[in-house]
Amino acid sequence: MEVKLLVDCPDAVPTVSGWLFEQFGYLDPSATRERAEVRVRTRLNATGLPVAFVALQGDTPIGTASLVESDLEECPELSPWLAGVFVLSQHRGLGYGAQIINAVVDHSRRNGFKKIYLFTPNKQVFFEKLGWLQSHRVLRRGVSLSVMERAP
Ligand SMILES: CC(C)(COP(=O)(O)OP(=O)(O)OC[C@H]1O[C@@H](n2cnc3c(N)ncnc32)[C@H](O)[C@@H]1OP(=O)(O)O)[C@@H](O)C(=O)NCCC(=O)NCCS
Repeated sequence: MEVKLLVDCPDAVPTVSGWLFEQFGYLDPSATRERAEVRVRTRLNATGLPVAFVALQGDTPIGTASLVESDLEECPELSPWLAGVFVLSQHRGLGYGAQIINAVVDHSRRNGFKKIYLFTPNKQVFFEKLGWLQSHRVLRRGVSLSVMERAP
């Protein structure tokens, strides 16, 4: 498995967009598959923000993660955010999620960010294992979210 910038694998954009829409679309009532792809295309950068990474097994995309300027309207003062972390179910439990997140953390460090954030409704333990600490909780549309942070 190797992790690449999505900008270097543009053929993977529809696949990655589809995953993010299916996995996280419920968090945004206005989300559509088309809007998800438009948003992912803004992440086709090699430096700075926003940026997306893709994990490849051979030529096949199996996971993704992004670094974006803002991800939670309840916390406009915090930036940047790890977002859209996803590994195909048949490839989970093999350390790939951790490796993709590491690529985002490395990118954050290289680009001079001193702290990075994420929110999660239910993966707090997973992120704690990877060195993230809960900062506070936010209630969004009746769902309790853990806001977490770490230095890159
Ligand atoms: C969360 C997700 C990215 C994990 O990917 P993965 O490739 O299975 O994760 P890894 O194999 O790198 O796991 C890293 C560590 O976290 C642990 N872990 C994995 N999933 C976990 C979970 N749901 N809860 C607690 N720990 C978990 C692993 O056991 C491993 O620990 P270890 O190093 O002690 O063995 C994957 O399950 C996924 O895509 N889920 C659906 C999307 C999602 O929930 N994304 C996060 C949104 S906030």
